Amino acid sequence: MAFPIQRLRRLRRTETLRRMVRETRLSVDQLIYPLFITAGQGVQEPIGAMPGNYRWSLDRLPGEIEEIASLGIPAVLLFGIPADKDPEATGAWHERGIVQEALRVVKGAAPELVAVADTCLCEYTSHGHCGRLDERGQVLNDATLELLVRTAVAQAAAGADIIAPSDMMDGRVAAIRAGLDANGFDQIPIMSYAAKFASGFYGPFREAAGSTPAFGDRRGYQMDPPNRREALREVLLDIEEGADIVMVKPAVAYLDIIRDVREAVPHPVAAYHVSGEFSMIKAAAANGWIDEQRVATETLTSIARAGADLIITYYAKDVAGWIS
Ligand code: PBG
Repeated sequence: MAFPIQRLRRLRRTETLRRMVRETRLSVDQLIYPLFITAGQGVQEPIGAMPGNYRWSLDRLPGEIEEIASLGIPAVLLFGIPADKDPEATGAWHERGIVQEALRVVKGAAPELVAVADTCLCEYTSHGHCGRLDERGQVLNDATLELLVRTAVAQAAAGADIIAPSDMMDGRVAAIRAGLDANGFDQIPIMSYAAKFASGFYGPFREAAGSTPAFGDRRGYQMDPPNRREALREVLLDIEEGADIVMVKPAVAYLDIIRDVREAVPHPVAAYHVSGEFSMIKAAAANGWIDEQRVATETLTSIARAGADLIITYYAKDVAGWIS
């Protein structure tokens, strides 16, 4: 007897049937939109390699924030481009630092919107590395923690709803947790960039934020891309140290890691669809080689399917429009 044909196509016959059996759904509730804040007045400066994304000055921010909130996007992730940089990253932790100012503006414009502060020093150090340096130009781990804690506490004091350390120093989650708790911020969660890889996909971001290291690279602190088991160590350690949400970054080139983390821990998992992953779709679409909406939706769906609860993406505003 011939093998009976299993008719999987029955449930693919119409869009309504497909809609009923769809296993993964993108929702606006899971999106976090990154924003770049710069000094100056009246600035809405396009970021060359990231079409549709801008550097905003504080006075132009309320309009953008209101638009984001009206699209139903629940959260923004703030990055600062300071007017001045120094070896101590003063702009990162000063109470008048650009992100602290931006946090006050965001919370004033849309109090319900969740303001996530990226906690790192590379945008604020004169050398562009994510910490204090020794005389040989190596990033000092423990001496950097103190500056990160100062930054996180200043961000929380300015109204940050979530602290998101992206520096990859060892022990920073425990240090930041202790610092937040000691300063009355025990209700402020930490979303750690737990498995953050030293990736070529950060190129457009570094142009946008002016955070390319003046010498060397970040391989001495960010993870080596081939390492899968080590990513789990990073995640488990961050959770032990007090992380409330763990992040994998980048996303598309690391879907296996997202899946590993999803299966290993019950915590919310975030994935960062990073600048280079965004720009590649934009560039191909601009050439007419791919259908942007279709490829972007398929890409973000793959990140959710891999196991991410939250997706940080420069496509957040577009997606909110597409799926509403
Ligand atoms: C700061 C930071 C970076 C990104 C997020 N936070 C750059 C880096 O680590 O070099 C990259 C985000 C993106 O590419 O979209 N450390």
